[in-house]
Amino acid sequence: MTKQRLAVTGANGYIASLVRLYNGQEYDIVPVTRHDVDFSDPGAVRAFFEGLDFDIVFHTAAVATTALCENEPELTHRINVESPIELATVCGERGKRLVFITTEQTFNAKTEGAPFAESAEPESHSHYGRQKTEVDAWLATSDVDYVTLRLSWMFGLPMPGVKPSPNVALQVLDAIRTHEPASFKVHDRRGLTYAQLLAEKFPRLARLPRGQYNVSSETGLTPYGAARYLAAALGADDELVAQVILPDLESYADAPRDYRLDTEKLAEQGISFGTFEENVARMMRDFGYPERG
Ligand SMILES: NC(=O)c1ccc[n+]([C@@H]2O[C@H](COP(=O)([O-])OP(=O)(O)OC[C@H]3O[C@@H](n4cnc5c(N)ncnc54)[C@H](OP(=O)(O)O)[C@@H]3O)[C@@H](O)[C@H]2O)c1
Repeated sequence: MTKQRLAVTGANGYIASLVRLYNGQEYDIVPVTRHDVDFSDPGAVRAFFEGLDFDIVFHTAAVATTALCENEPELTHRINVESPIELATVCGERGKRLVFITTEQTFNAKTEGAPFAESAEPESHSHYGRQKTEVDAWLATSDVDYVTLRLSWMFGLPMPGVKPSPNVALQVLDAIRTHEPASFKVHDRRGLTYAQLLAEKFPRLARLPRGQYNVSSETGLTPYGAARYLAAALGADDELVAQVILPDLESYADAPRDYRLDTEKLAEQGISFGTFEENVARMMRDFGYPERG
């Protein structure tokens, strides 16, 4: 059987690199980078995808840096909203599936109600979160065949051809390697998911029935608790953990945040990302670290 042609935007980014690495057997992968088409130009995006031979698009290209989205709202609106809508429109016209990624940050202004199901009304303090919500809301009212994956904060370590986005595992590894202390929030609760699991499960995710799905491991830990857990797993003794993994007690002390995701809808489709601790154990195995009891 001929493989489906999977176009992957932001092809050299973290999530895209992993999905490409894990799924070369499953798909004929068509990498799309900034050199092929710049998402700051919605017209160019339309023209490029009208001329491209593909069956599915996995759209990861985005400015995911919150500060850049705050400082450059118009530019990032073109990249994160207008161009994805052009891409989605072409997918709709050609009857092709779009896999879009949004973020738990769409819920970062919620003061209660976590964990949030797909049906919860998004509320975000940031341009980044609101830009993602705008695309998702457009998709939901369109007739495009789409799947939106709403991701928690993803974590993992570098490997050849894969440069991770900033994440808790990298921060912890850096702290225990350099003995430079790093602080992690205490008044904050969010999902933390091992990115390789997403890449591994991608074909099943891409075949889900049309709609939005939350993607996260389960955790009751704060980022500080998770960082301590990771440091111990990566081999730091109690003394080193206490020395370099510090609690950030100030951020959100007045209004503690909790924007964890409810993953029941995905579980009903037979897909689960397990617990944070299971995700860490998997990362340790993948990267050759010894299991610690
Ligand atoms: N990592 C996470 O924890 C996480 C969590 C929730 C959601 N997400 C979402 O997942 C997606 C991928 O995230 P990631 O962590 O893999 O980010 P990443 O490594 O920063 O990848 C983003 C990609 O987008 C490309 N890009 C940015 N601006 C562009 C433009 N104007 N034209 C064309 N390409 C452009 C970048 O290209 P260059 O390399 O050329 O700059 C990069 O390859 C994003 O949509 C993000 O919002 C990520």
